[in-house]
Amino acid sequence: MDRFNRFYWGAASSATQIEGAWNEGGKCASIWDNAGKHIKNGENCYEACDHFHRYREDVAIMKELGFNSYRFSINPCRIMTAENAINEKGLDFYRDLVKELRANDIEPLCTLYHWDLPQWVQDKGGWKNDWIQEWYLEYVRTVVSALKDDVKVWMTFNEPQMFIMMGYVTGSSAPFKHEVFSFRKHHLRNMLMAHGRAVRLIRELTEGDCSIGIAMASSTFIPHSESEQDIQFARKQSFESIVGEGSNSLYMDPIALGRATPMLRRALSREDLKIISEPIDFIGVNVYQPSNPIIDKKAYEAENRPKSSLGWVVDERCLYWTIRHYWERYQLPVMVTENGISLDDTAEGDECHDPERTDFLRKFISSMMRAVDEKIPVVGYQYWSIMDNFEWCEGYGPRFGLVHIDYETQKRTVKDSARYYASMIASDGRTQ
Ligand code: GCO
Repeated sequence: MDRFNRFYWGAASSATQIEGAWNEGGKCASIWDNAGKHIKNGENCYEACDHFHRYREDVAIMKELGFNSYRFSINPCRIMTAENAINEKGLDFYRDLVKELRANDIEPLCTLYHWDLPQWVQDKGGWKNDWIQEWYLEYVRTVVSALKDDVKVWMTFNEPQMFIMMGYVTGSSAPFKHEVFSFRKHHLRNMLMAHGRAVRLIRELTEGDCSIGIAMASSTFIPHSESEQDIQFARKQSFESIVGEGSNSLYMDPIALGRATPMLRRALSREDLKIISEPIDFIGVNVYQPSNPIIDKKAYEAENRPKSSLGWVVDERCLYWTIRHYWERYQLPVMVTENGISLDDTAEGDECHDPERTDFLRKFISSMMRAVDEKIPVVGYQYWSIMDNFEWCEGYGPRFGLVHIDYETQKRTVKDSARYYASMIASDGRTQ
């Protein structure tokens, strides 16, 4: 907590989902540029929200809404365009972006890897190839050396659950592979080792003037009641059940506790775990829905809770419980690095009315503030997302943004919920 001098109110994005300019500024192709038929409706990430050219306008909106922080990601394809080839024009874009943020008193929260692997790296085996650790470290060294004067908060990865499991096991995310997994040995071990080695490298390069974390796709169980017995059971389910291990502890136990869970026990050596558990300063939790419906879908359906346009259950209790479960197990400050709802928003002139998102924000921020009031060290809330954007294989259908994007004209329209969020920020989370 002492590394965070204020609560970080803002919103999140990722490079591939908003930047566009897929083949500009010296950038090389990513596995998502080459996703082709895997994207719904024949869509692609080539133009996205054209943030590459419009970032000043977008930062001005953040300023107008009163953000004191903004979580974004760096696209490695703008930086490492071939073996031993550093693209200075790519670094210049991010230098300009973080300087624009700083000029508006907005703290840049930088995710170093949010799924956009250069195709040339995947062609060498991607996360299956142990060499990828060296590639990742060279990338981190290049970016952190260039931006460390303006960027003080770093996240090594976004959601390894997704890019490792969906990318190489289920094949439902780029690079769409179904590779034989023996205890997830190479892919997951390479990601965990790259994380630990990067934490040490970032500390060295910044001489400790930084806060380092990782953003996890965190999904935990809400207890059936708040009896101690039910809470203990929900905690056990969240980290020791197959579902809980696969969502949370498989990754976080090696990183935050220096120990492997059963699935990885034979894949990680004692030396590996020492490297992987290089101390971090916070855990980022990306929270959308609880794990309960996975186990008890019928009971959950019977509660008839609202759902997002993607069919995700809206149950604000999951934010408090995920924060609390993670704090009680890992004893590290928690930043809500993603939390949001997709809706079928439409803009009418200069307005976009989205009452469900305002209701979502009211309920979820109230849920988070319960943890804050219980003195759990929550260090920030980044709504997902600052703007409607490219939702990976779903394309542009799902709209998560606080700002509506007209993809024909790239017109930005601030939604009603963004105004509500601005009031929530101004009251430090206490608006009713
Ligand atoms: C993720 C990613 C984001 C998504 C968001 C909505 O969590 O999948 O971090 O890129 O767009 O979560 O699905």
